[in-house]
Amino acid sequence: MSAYNSYLKADVLHSLQAPVTDTEGERSFLVVCQVQELYFGLVVTELRFAAQHLRDGETAAAVTALRRAADHFTGLNASWKSLEWMSVGDFLPIKAGLGATHGKSSSLQSWKYRELVFLLGIRPPELAEPVATMPAEHKALLDTLGEPSIYDDVLALLSRRGLPVPDVVLQRDPQVHHQSHPDIEQAWTTVFYSGDPALADLRSCGEALMRIAEGYAEYKHLHLVATRRTFGHRPGYYGTSGLGWLAETATEVPFTELWSMAPEAG
Ligand code: HEM
Repeated sequence: MSAYNSYLKADVLHSLQAPVTDTEGERSFLVVCQVQELYFGLVVTELRFAAQHLRDGETAAAVTALRRAADHFTGLNASWKSLEWMSVGDFLPIKAGLGATHGKSSSLQSWKYRELVFLLGIRPPELAEPVATMPAEHKALLDTLGEPSIYDDVLALLSRRGLPVPDVVLQRDPQVHHQSHPDIEQAWTTVFYSGDPALADLRSCGEALMRIAEGYAEYKHLHLVATRRTFGHRPGYYGTSGLGWLAETATEVPFTELWSMAPEAG
């Protein structure tokens, strides 16, 4: 055992690919899926660090964790490049092999991805259901649904700093989807454009959230593009067009009022 390996567990990592076909391209599909899964977990870890810092009143440390999360989206999104070679005739045999070996599969069963999306505040509760065959992970997801999202934690911070975040937002059941509120648009407008130096840390927080939202939107777009090329409108998990299902969800944008704040025209 070397120090390198005892830290990285490279021997374990390199033993974790068990292809289900004899196609050469399957390795890249499998490794990219595993790399993305690790990134989902890493973003979740950063969001949970950030949430704890926000609750502890450590805004600078929260912003640092949020910026790291945004950077991880850059790495996650770059991983799609490894699949640019793949088209429909390459993917369908892998999917068939997967079905024959492991049964009906969908990445909707990725509980880490779902946890990430729930933490961003996009929370259709029915999307926890594909994870129900794994009771511990399913319960953890339901617990996440009962906790504030990262945006809820940031809005609580804005409120503690005297900005007008309505009680109806702060005190709602966290499972209830947050609807855009004009007072919060006003709060972000003040944070970004009042020029008050005392609000600079809140602006940094908002900017980090925007970078995360853009990284997430880019992930959804790249996934959609890869699916159009390799799978198209064939039926997905729900029996309807897989591409159609993804296209519908690709318009979800977290942290809604950051995108609709409305400074007066100068
Ligand atoms: C390149 C070939 C790929 C195709 C054709 C494809 C196709 C699909 C489809 C059709 C869905 C919708 C749900 C369903 O019907 O199963 C989906 C969801 C999903 N896929 Fe993929 N996918 C591909 C690659 C990947 C990779 C590499 C990952 C990384 C782990 C991944 C992760 C996910 C996740 C997390 C969801 C849930 C998305 C959401 O809730 O918005 N997919 N995929």
